Amino acid sequence: MPHRHRTFDPDAHMFTGRGSAVYDRLAPLLMGWLYNRVAADVAAANSIGLVVDLGCGPGHAAVRIARRNSAVEVVGLDPSPDMIQRASAKAESTGGPPRLRFEMGSSAALPFADASVALIVSSLSVHHWEDVPGGLAECLRVLQPGGEFWIYEPGVLMGREVERTVRRVVPALVPRPAFGRNTIRLGPIPVMVRMRLRRPPAA
Ligand SMILES: C[S@@+](CC[C@H](N)C(=O)[O-])C[C@H]1O[C@@H](n2cnc3c(N)ncnc32)[C@H](O)[C@@H]1O
Repeated sequence: MPHRHRTFDPDAHMFTGRGSAVYDRLAPLLMGWLYNRVAADVAAANSIGLVVDLGCGPGHAAVRIARRNSAVEVVGLDPSPDMIQRASAKAESTGGPPRLRFEMGSSAALPFADASVALIVSSLSVHHWEDVPGGLAECLRVLQPGGEFWIYEPGVLMGREVERTVRRVVPALVPRPAFGRNTIRLGPIPVMVRMRLRRPPAA
């Protein structure tokens, strides 16, 4: 069955032009708690090395990750040039650490060598990918053995379909993947999930 995710069309997309400006303004008001949570999760995992925020949008999570985690280098990737421009300006104007940079790029072709990335995080983005199985294959290609991919999605909405796809596709791509799942609550209300995918450590 074909996958039913929305297509990224740079010419007519909600994440370009005015759409990126509106998103940049609203996102920290509505989702600031999530960006703090992502940065805290990276800290709790004692991550070191290269961390990629895939589909970083205007960079709110990536900036927080870099500030809170001095042992990581952070690259934010997004296919929208407007989002990358906003993210880069934000990092510059807020004195973002030099270990942080933003580049145009997408899940279709990650600009990293095989087995070079320690951790990929992606918040509210995977359900927008045109080709989720292809993007997962790219993530697994660039992850180091033992490296992880964390997907943050609204659990009861797009998250369910994303999770089904991850669990169906990944075992065909790598032997012995490990999956995990955390529910993220706002007060008592479960609002998001973090799906965790770990590339198996080297034998
Ligand atoms: C809802 S925004 C989320 C942005 C940010 N991660 C956040 O949590 O605020 C979704 C982002 O995914 C990006 N995107 C769409 N297709 C993508 C793909 N194939 N690979 C990477 N990012 C993609 C969009 O350009 C957009 O910036």
